[in-house]
Formats: sequence, structure tokens, C-alpha cells
Amino acid sequence: MERHDNNHRQPSPQELSRRRFLAYLSGLLAGIITLIIAIPIIGFVISPLLRPKKESWVKLGPVSALTPGQPIKFAYSYQLIDGWFEKTAHATAYAVLPAAGTKDIIVLSNICTHLGCGVRWDDTQHQFLCPCHNGRFDIEGKNVAGPPPRPLPKLQWKIDQGMILAKVEEV
Ligand code: FES
Repeated sequence: MERHDNNHRQPSPQELSRRRFLAYLSGLLAGIITLIIAIPIIGFVISPLLRPKKESWVKLGPVSALTPGQPIKFAYSYQLIDGWFEKTAHATAYAVLPAAGTKDIIVLSNICTHLGCGVRWDDTQHQFLCPCHNGRFDIEGKNVAGPPPRPLPKLQWKIDQGMILAKVEEV
């Protein structure tokens, strides 16, 4: 007597193509769901890279405080957006009127171009001195001794209603 085993029968071509279609459909759905979940995450991760750099002007102090040959130190703070984080950054700049009879102000960052220590103006030596490795800069910020490879960074400035403003950029 012949015996039929339904569990081991070969699927018909119609069944095979239906199974393939269902497998294709479930793969497609899984792909769409993955995309729906991934797009906002990818957007969040790369958005800091795509955001244009923001710049702002910070108030340093009155232009009337400047004396020729006497750099004036100003401390200021600003909002710094660093990747995904926003924080308040504190910085120091020197506004300089290098010589009498000139109106050309220079605004210098006090960050040493060697390893980033804060320089300070020394009245007796008439130079900016770096406490870390004895770097020295002249009154216009030019590196004149020690390891600093470049002059002190200059900040763009403008005067608005008698106040010196300096331009700062987020990193
Ligand atoms: S950090 Fe200023 S001389 Fe090294």
C-alpha cells in the first residue's frame, strides 16, 4: 500500500514564490522600520558637524580706558557650543594702543601659542610673559623669546558707543 507523508512533500511552485514574496516583504518592512528609527539618531549625532559656526561680539570695556603703550586686561565670558554641549566659557584679552598718536587698537588673546598657558603683561619688562616656559611677546603680540612658535592670536574688534567689542567664535 502506498503511503503519503504530507510533512515531507515538495512545495508547489506557487507556494515557493509566495514564500519568497513574503520573505522579501518582511525584509523590506524591517529595512523601512530600521530607517525610521535610525534617521533621527543619525541626525542627532551629525548635527553639530553641519551646524554653521556661530560668532558673537563680547563687550570688553571702554575705549577711554586705553593708554598708549599700556595693554589693558579684560576678562569676558561667552556661550561656547562644543559639539553637543553648550557651556559658558571664560577668557581674557588685552586691548592695546601700541603707541601715542595712533588709533590702531590691537586686541590680543592671552593664550600662549606654545602650549596654551595664559600670558600676562609685565610693565617693567614691557612684554607679555608666559609663566609656563618663559615665552615672551612684545606689545603687539609678536613672539620674541622662548618656545612660542607664533604671535599671540589677534581678535577682531569694533567700537560701539565707546565700548570695545571683540569677536568670538564657538569651537
Ligand atoms: S605655554 Fe607659553 S611658553 Fe610654553
